[in-house]
Amino acid sequence: MEKEFVMLKPNAVRRGLIGEIINRFEKRGLKITAMKFINPSSDQLEELYKEHAGKSFYNGLMEFASSGPVVVIILEGNRAIEMVRHIVGKTDPLEASPGSIRGEYGLSVRKNIVHASDSQENAEREMKIFFDHEEITEYELDAQDDI
Ligand code: RTP
Ligand code: MG
Repeated sequence: MEKEFVMLKPNAVRRGLIGEIINRFEKRGLKITAMKFINPSSDQLEELYKEHAGKSFYNGLMEFASSGPVVVIILEGNRAIEMVRHIVGKTDPLEASPGSIRGEYGLSVRKNIVHASDSQENAEREMKIFFDHEEITEYELDAQDDI
């Protein structure tokens, strides 16, 4: 099983899309093992986006990411990273498939609703920025037959 880190960006919260987005992950069978609603600190956002430091869009990205509360989530599942990135869609909402989260709700490259880690290494690194070890749960989902 793979773990994936996701952050619902401030505009997802402000537009009332939290439930809609989480529902998409749940419907694909992904297991939520940690989740919280927070005001991210500038230290956390700098660490999250450190690979983009110095790029032309970095200041705008940081300003937007710190513009309000976010929801941070850890999802677990078979090939979770690939699956989540597929459900989220391409970075630019204009290029994202119409059925994806960004393809449906994204307004621009910056205001693209959701962050999702792009590799196992980054997922591990990024979830540690926002969660302590004891905040991450372990449990089994009910099988379809039991629901
Ligand atoms: P994310 O990290 O947020 O999941 O997005 P991503 O992997 O699809 O895209 P990435 O290249 O990691 O970029 C991180 C975020 O920076 C903003 N961005 N703006 N040219 C631009 O103006 C530009 N390029 C990237 C986006 O908000 C993107 O999600
Ligand atoms: Mg990225």
